[in-house]
Amino acid sequence: MELFDLLVIGGGPGGYLCAERAAQGGMKVCLFEKKSLGGTCLNEGCIPTKTLLNSAKMYRHATESAAFGVTAEGVKFDHAKVVARKGQVVKTLVGGVGATMKAHKVTVITADAVIKGREADGFAVEANGEKYVGKKLVIAAGSETVVPPVPGLKEGIASGFVTTNREVLDLTELPKKLVAIGGGVIGLEMAYYFASVGVPVTVIEMMPKIAGATDPEICKILQKACEKHGMDFKLSAKVLEVKNGSVVYEENGEKKEIACDKVLLAAGRKPATAGIGLESLNLQMDRAAIVTDRFLCTNVSGVYAVGDCNGKLMLAHTAYREAEVAVNHMLGKKDEMRYDVIPSVIYTDPEVASVGLSAEAAKAKGMNVKEIKLPMIYAGRYVAEVDNGDGFVKLVVDTDRKRLVGCFMVGSYASEIIMTATMMVDTELTPARLQKMVFPHPTVAEVIREALFKI
Ligand code: NAI
Repeated sequence: MELFDLLVIGGGPGGYLCAERAAQGGMKVCLFEKKSLGGTCLNEGCIPTKTLLNSAKMYRHATESAAFGVTAEGVKFDHAKVVARKGQVVKTLVGGVGATMKAHKVTVITADAVIKGREADGFAVEANGEKYVGKKLVIAAGSETVVPPVPGLKEGIASGFVTTNREVLDLTELPKKLVAIGGGVIGLEMAYYFASVGVPVTVIEMMPKIAGATDPEICKILQKACEKHGMDFKLSAKVLEVKNGSVVYEENGEKKEIACDKVLLAAGRKPATAGIGLESLNLQMDRAAIVTDRFLCTNVSGVYAVGDCNGKLMLAHTAYREAEVAVNHMLGKKDEMRYDVIPSVIYTDPEVASVGLSAEAAKAKGMNVKEIKLPMIYAGRYVAEVDNGDGFVKLVVDTDRKRLVGCFMVGSYASEIIMTATMMVDTELTPARLQKMVFPHPTVAEVIREALFKI
């Protein structure tokens, strides 16, 4: 048995960054990963999805290029090749994480780790029949697909007719007709990929709008863009049954059935906390989520939970920051987690991005606010690159403090531009100071600069 300063369970963004930062801080670290380093993000989430979406974007640009004076003939989309390239991208990045662990002398154990409780020297974990003890313990076990209690769903998953975010990324052939259950982020990004390369897609969403809490005006633009690419939405619709070859649902009180050869289940994710021995520590839980405070500490001193398994914000970049806060707490460095300035992005085309408070959320906190909405056509580059674009940016301003508290946008490069707004919300600089910042011209980001002069 070897004694470590830190044991980390889970090798996704939360876990591997924790291991890296702790090692940089001089700790002797052991990381357990039962599958592949990189977790959901690298293997079956963010990175593979963006790889696929980029190929779909290239295809669409080629097929829609005539209006831009480019004639492209014989454009073909080779889905199998796209998936193979995705495999290479994932391999490269997973290899990179492995190399980083090695460079920081982190011991990586590829096995299912189970917590065995507290001992005199620290926390005990069993993996591959061996016992490991760490003075501190980080749980970074991630999340898993929610399987709603719909008849036929489990059987569909077992037969391969129903895919989750994992299997859908490895289909070697395009489906002839896809039904997505859930119009949230996963449902939209994956449905968007298939629809943009010609697959008829129906999204069944039980809420009256797509994209969860995303700004309703943005949702309308996004839905219109998706429909333009052949996506069909059944909103306020309830899935009743999944048969072999169709999905039965209820819409406006009527029972309907859509035939399809693949289903994507994207009805949410939940913390993957079962079977890892949490009960041996008596950790405080909120359903499947491990309860943590602003330092990522659990109710057991020395045990931390970062990333999706604490159920706070299931985003890789949240996990990264949480990992750093947890390690800083272990090292006695002053730091704490802020969940109110975390950007979020939907990688459709147009892209959707937001950060901070919406006007409603700000009002609920007692702020007096005003919204400044500007179309992206205020930015020359947007007009140069997009015909008839309806992208816009919306700033939410606290009028008493004269500070930017939120930014919501839809349109080109939103995923990259949102960081500009994030820095403005995070640093709480005055509009007068922000107005002095020089933006490169021409960029779509300049629409934010324009909006700043309307505060
Ligand atoms: P989600 O919570 O974003 O969306 C799930 C949707 O399914 C909701 O709109 C919900 O109303 C609907 N739904 C649930 N049960 C249903 C049913 N029985 N029938 C019809 N609709 C139903 O969850 P999603 O899309 O699965 O994503 C999971 C997590 O992964 C999220 O936390 C998300 O933030 C994260 N993610 C983030 C991405 C990004 O940052 N770009 C990309 C993909 C995932």
